[in-house]
Amino acid sequence: MPDNSRDYLFSEGQVRSAVALGSVGMGVILLALLFLATSRPQGKYQILDGSAHQADLQAAVASITGYEDLGGGKARIDINRAMELVAERGVVNPGFHSAAPATPPQVTAPVTPAETPATGGTQAGGTEAQTSVPALPDGEPLYMSTCSACHQATGMGIPMAFPPLAGHAPELYAADRDYPVEAVAFGLQGSISVHNTTYNGVMPSHLHLQDADMAAILNYVMTAWGNEADLPAGFEPYTAADVEAVRGMMLMATEVHANRVAAGLD
Ligand code: HEC
Repeated sequence: MPDNSRDYLFSEGQVRSAVALGSVGMGVILLALLFLATSRPQGKYQILDGSAHQADLQAAVASITGYEDLGGGKARIDINRAMELVAERGVVNPGFHSAAPATPPQVTAPVTPAETPATGGTQAGGTEAQTSVPALPDGEPLYMSTCSACHQATGMGIPMAFPPLAGHAPELYAADRDYPVEAVAFGLQGSISVHNTTYNGVMPSHLHLQDADMAAILNYVMTAWGNEADLPAGFEPYTAADVEAVRGMMLMATEVHANRVAAGLD
């Protein structure tokens, strides 16, 4: 009789319990992994509310006196205080020129040149006393940085777009001494004709220039490129005071054009 029974290393009961234990173990490992994945190491982080930073900012703001915090990122500063800060700390490339004349104040006593030699060379005489008007800055670099983009370094302008100043500025002076100052200060708008070429553009106002700088530019324009030879006899260079007086007129660019017409220029 053949023996159908076989010997197994594990009994059926042992296999069942091994499978059961294995699944339980797997479940425990999965739970452990799940726990590790979802638990965060919160102890490592500190929640910030920004108040420390705000306090630093407030302290920095408070150190600028004369400064009023309006909230919402806006602030107001007294103009005099702002100017003091500029004087104290300086400003890199502020975009405007110093209001103070480059030279020390001149002697303003009216000493005529004729009197000076008669006084026998006193200390008060000499070149300083002859000019009661403060010296102006050099007009050429100012012209180059302010006007040459349109009127060109040669003063020739660009036909139909920007009128020439070379060979033309003295005619403007002769027609109306104030007119060139008005054109630079307030700009010009309206059709003009220069040497039979028509221009109908817009010249921007240059009120941001200091009086002395504007006067220096105008004197450069009147004398550069051979213009000096065309100036009428008795030409008086512009002074900062001349510019200041014109500035007070507060004209529109179209009113400057009307003054040009009134001066007999076409
Ligand atoms: C953005 C270009 C531009 C700049 C910068 C500019 N101008 Fe002009 N300027 C013009 C134009 C355009 C006209 C003519 C406007 C018109 O057609 O009415 C003009 C007209 C003038 C006139 C009057 C000419 C006339 O026949 O009446 C003078 C003077 C003048 N400019 C001088 C200057 C000086 C000096 C500067 C620098 C301080 C300057 N301009 C800067 C564009 C410019």
